[in-house]
Parts: sequence; C-alpha cells; structure tokens
Amino acid sequence: MSHTDNIDFLCGNVSADENGHLLFAGQDTAALAREYGTPLYLMDEERIRERCRTYIKGLKDAFGDKGQALFASKAASFKRIYEIMREEGMGIDVVSSGEICTALKAGFPLSKAYFHSNNKTDADIAYAIKNGIGHFVVDNREELYAIDKEAENQGIRQRIMLRITPGIDPHTFAEVATGKVDSKFGSAIETGQAEEMVKIALSLENITLSGFHCHVGSQVFDSDVFLRAADVMLDFIADIKEKFGFSPEKLDLGGGYGVRYKAEDPHIDIYDNILQVGAFVKEKVAKLGIDMPEISLEPGRSIVADAGMTLYTVGTVKKIPEFINYVSVDGGMTDNVRFAMYGAPYTLFAAEKLNEKADMECSVVGRCCESGDIIQENVMMPESICRGDILACLTTGAYNYSMASNYNKIPRPPIVMLNEGKSYVAVRRETIEDLTMYDV
Ligand code: LLP
Repeated sequence: MSHTDNIDFLCGNVSADENGHLLFAGQDTAALAREYGTPLYLMDEERIRERCRTYIKGLKDAFGDKGQALFASKAASFKRIYEIMREEGMGIDVVSSGEICTALKAGFPLSKAYFHSNNKTDADIAYAIKNGIGHFVVDNREELYAIDKEAENQGIRQRIMLRITPGIDPHTFAEVATGKVDSKFGSAIETGQAEEMVKIALSLENITLSGFHCHVGSQVFDSDVFLRAADVMLDFIADIKEKFGFSPEKLDLGGGYGVRYKAEDPHIDIYDNILQVGAFVKEKVAKLGIDMPEISLEPGRSIVADAGMTLYTVGTVKKIPEFINYVSVDGGMTDNVRFAMYGAPYTLFAAEKLNEKADMECSVVGRCCESGDIIQENVMMPESICRGDILACLTTGAYNYSMASNYNKIPRPPIVMLNEGKSYVAVRRETIEDLTMYDV
C-alpha cells in the first residue's frame, strides 16, 4: 500500500500516480500547470455532464415529464458552460444581462432561461424581454409593475414565476441563507406579501403567472431542508388555490445541495435525494387535492464545484519560528475570495509531492496587499515545499471564477477544460494589457 492510498481526494476525478503526482480527470496536474501557466482554473467536462445527467435522470424518475433541471449559472458563467448546458438539455437560471448575453453567445435558447435577482434594472428587464427570456422570477411588487409595463411596450405577454420566501433556516453560513423571512430575496408567506404578489400578478394584463419559486440556501447538507421547503410551498399553493382559484403550472424548489470541500464533509447522493423529494411531493399533492405542478431544481454548486480545481505556483515560503508558516502562491483572493468572504474550507495538495509526508502546518496565502488574502489556514504541506512547486486547491469549480476580481490589477486566470485525456482553453488568460482596456 502506498502513502497516497490513505489520502481522501474528495471526488472520484482526483487521484495520484505512482510518482506521487496529483491527477485530475486522469491528467497530470503539474504538467498542465507547465503547459498553460499558473494560476490556472481546470474544469472536468465529463464530471459537469455527469452531474447534469444525474439531475435530469433524478427529476425524470421522480416526476416523469413534470421534472425539470436548471443550472444556476451564477456558479460558473462563461460561454462554454452554456454550450454544455444546451447540449445536455438543461435549463438555466440567470441573474443579469451579462449572464444572458454570455448564454446567447453560446447559442443557448433563452426560452429555457429563468431570470432571477432581487433588483432587476429597467435595462435588464428590457434586454431580457427583447431577447425572449422564458421566465422572470419576480422578487417584489415594483418589479411586477416594471415587467408588466415593459412587456406592454414590447407588445408581448411575459411569463413569470414569483419568488416566495418560505421561512426556513437551512443551517448553512449566513451569507448564503436566503429562505428566512428577513431575507433580501423574495416575498414572505408569513407577512402576507407573497399572497399580495399573487393578487397583483393575476390582475396584470401583460403577465402570465406560471408558478412559484423558492430557494432556501446554499451548501446545504440536511436533505430534510428540501422536504420542508416543498411542504411549505405546497401548503401555500393549496391556500392560493382556495383563495384565488389559481393552480400554478410550475414549482421551483431552488438549488443548494452541498459538496465536499474537506475530507470530513459528508457525501450526498443527489439522485437518491431527488427521489425522496419526489415521493414527498407526490404524497402531499394527493393529500391536499391540488394539481401536480412541474417541479424544477436549479443547482449551481453541485453541478460544477468538484469539476473544478485551481493550480498555483509557490513563491515565498515564510517560516516565522514559534508562530506560523506562510506558503504564498501566485494567485489569491482575486481568483478565490471564498475564504476571505465566508471562511470557506478548502483542501490543498502539493501536486508533485504526494509521496512525501505532509507534516508542516501553514497558511496558504495569495499575493494581494491584504492580510485577509488567504486561500486556507491550517493546511498540512510537506516540509520541503518551496518556490516553484505546484499547489492544487480542490473543489474550486463553483463561485471562484464567477467571483474573481482584478484587485491589485492582477489578471484573472484562464479556464482550461479537461475531457477524455485532452485539454482545451475555454476562457483565455487575461493579460496586463487587458487590464487597461476600459481606461479612456
Ligand atoms: N437558485 C437561486 C435563486 C440562488 O440564489 C442560488 C444561489 C442557486 C439557485 C444555486 O445554489 P447552489 O446550488 O449553487 O448552492 N457565492 C456563494 C454562493 C451564493 C449562492 C447564491 N445563490 C459561495 O461562494 O458560496
């Protein structure tokens, strides 16, 4: 048994070869780092497709023709991903004109897109309608009126869903919990605002109400959360049917399934979870005597997170005796702001030193002028770690590229896709020249 047999690589697409090199989607990560340079985002295309298929199959097996899988594209928004979603038959959730434009450039059929956000601008609304957005997921009353007005201007009748706040605490970190009554998102059932929204929506002439949406939070491990959300939403639907005689065509239960960032994180069997949701919904619909709506889920993280990995080159290694060791890399909060924002956990490896014992505790930090520019604390690295070594940070496919910045005028890394033993660039590396592109 070799030393690497004991390492938990989190996801089946990560492994080690006999030389102690880290492999991703079967490819040598250090060799990729040398070929494409660092920092570098890698994405495993096969894994993304496999995840889409799990959701599509799960929803089909749970709901037959009444199941629909959408990708929450805020998790990773670039042209190639929308092409993959189109090819896999996924719908998408978008939150800005920028995401819509990117999807359009990939030839994504906008009729399968749902436009979220708690504050769509008038320009967003006009742009989305002009390009044939399938649905708006309307957050609040001002937005209802604004969409109705713009639909009238453009001479169409616009389909919408209403974002409802079910009043559920998903037990995840506060920044990504969205289902509680005091959330900035949606209209709460508890306050009567949700009902008020239905009333207005049904009265407006240029709008067709297709159904309801909720999303309770992100990085959720407790499978019960989706059942509780479905429970509250179906009760709401029954109540609305009684009060207004309105039966929604659609119910979207949002995204949120958690992924493994660390060895101690549990595995979630998504297919199994969807079947549980299916059984629960069918039973409850029958009990309430309401029509079965089309059910959709809109995962982001669980589609792309472990399909991603970031590679860095080590620069300075600073050992402060009796205090702390710092291993600095050539990226940082500009390509991964999640530790700085949420204290998010990550697992890192020295990509060519997996055969060495990792017994030096350190903080892996970035190159920005900011003490909070930390990728991860309490990381175990081999004592020999030094300038020029390649470090890999796992599970970076969700919300890393999409939240990247140019702080300190640092160019953003490229995205290189891996598929069937080959690699190709999906997003090219920014150059320092690109960084003055908008300066006049
Ligand atoms: N649907 C809606 C309406 C959402 O707001 C979100 C995520 C999703 C679906 C997808 O959730 P997921 O399956 O990815 O958990 N920047 C944070 C995550 C923010 C999540 C925002 N909404 C992070 O880096 O963890």
